[in-house]
Amino acid sequence: MLENRSNMDWGLKNRLSSIIKPQNNRALMLAVDHGYFLGPTEKLEDPKKVIAPLLKHCDSLMVTRGVQRASVPATTGTPMVLRVSGGSSIIGEDLSQEDITVSIEDAIRLNASALAMSIFVGSKYEYQTIVNLGKLVSEAEKYGLPVLAVTAVGKELGKDARYLSLACRVAAEQGAHIVKTYYCDNFEKVVQSCPVPIIVAGGKKIPERDALQLTYNAIKGGAVGVDMGRNIWQSEHPVSMIRAVRAIVHNNQNVDQAFKLYKKLVSEEPRKKSNNNKSNNPNQKKSNKPNNPNQNKPHQNQK
Ligand code: 5RP
Repeated sequence: MLENRSNMDWGLKNRLSSIIKPQNNRALMLAVDHGYFLGPTEKLEDPKKVIAPLLKHCDSLMVTRGVQRASVPATTGTPMVLRVSGGSSIIGEDLSQEDITVSIEDAIRLNASALAMSIFVGSKYEYQTIVNLGKLVSEAEKYGLPVLAVTAVGKELGKDARYLSLACRVAAEQGAHIVKTYYCDNFEKVVQSCPVPIIVAGGKKIPERDALQLTYNAIKGGAVGVDMGRNIWQSEHPVSMIRAVRAIVHNNQNVDQAFKLYKKLVSEEPRKKSNNNKSNNPNQKKSNKPNNPNQNKPHQNQK
C-alpha cells in the first residue's frame, strides 16, 4: 500500500514504514498516552515500569512528550508516535476542547516518527479540532512527519459505522496519513470509505480472549492493526497479552491460536513474589485492585 503513495516524500514514507510494516502492511502500536487527560490511569500510574517490558514487543509507542522524556529510554529503537494535542482533562468542562500543545521543533527533537492528535467530530469543538488537524498536516509534511488522527468519541456520541465512517473520512480528507478509530459492526464500511490506513483502538478493558477477538475482527475487516492500551497493560499479564495480540497482527494467527499462546505464555511466566509472604496468610484477603477502583470509571465509559 505504501508503494502506491508515490506522492509522498522519502522521509515521510520512511517514517510511515517504521509504523506500518511494509512486509505485511500491518502495525502493532502500544498506546500509553492516556494520562494526557486522565492523569494516573489505573495500572499506568508508573509509565516507566509499564513501558519497559512491553517496548520490544510493539512496532511503535503512542506517547506524550512528558512520558517519553521521563519514562522511555532514549536508547530504544522503537519508533515514537507523539501525541501533540491536549488541553482538557476528565474533570474539566468539555473533553473536546483540545488544541495543539507541542511544536514541530520539539517533536523533531524527540525524534518522533509520527504525530498524533484527536479530532472530535460532532462535538462542540469539532471546528477547532478539525482545523487544527489540517494545520498540523500542513506543518508536519514540511518535515516529512506523518500525522495520525484519532477519531475521539465523547460520551454523547455513538460508535456505529455511520458515525465512525464520517469521522474517519473527515480526518483523511484533512490529510491524515493514518486514522485511528474504534471497531464496530459493519466495520468494513468504515475501512472502505477511508482512503488511508485505519488502526483500531482497544477501548476499555475486556477479557483477554475478547480483546484478541476484537484484534482479529479489526484485521479481518481491513484495519492495518491495533493501537492498544488498556487491554494490554491493564491485563494481569501484559507481556503475554501483547505477544498474543502480535501473533494475530503479524503472524496471521486466529483467536483460538492466539489465546492458546496467551495461556501458554502466562503459564511460563515467573511467579510474582509475594509481599512479605502475605499471600500465604489465609487470613489475608488477596486483591489485585488498585487503591481507588473508581478512579477511572468516567473515562472507561467514554472512550
Ligand atoms: C486516547 C487515545 C488512546 O491512545 C486510545 O484510546 C488507545 O488506547 P485504548 O486501547 O486503551 O483504548 O488515543 O484518546
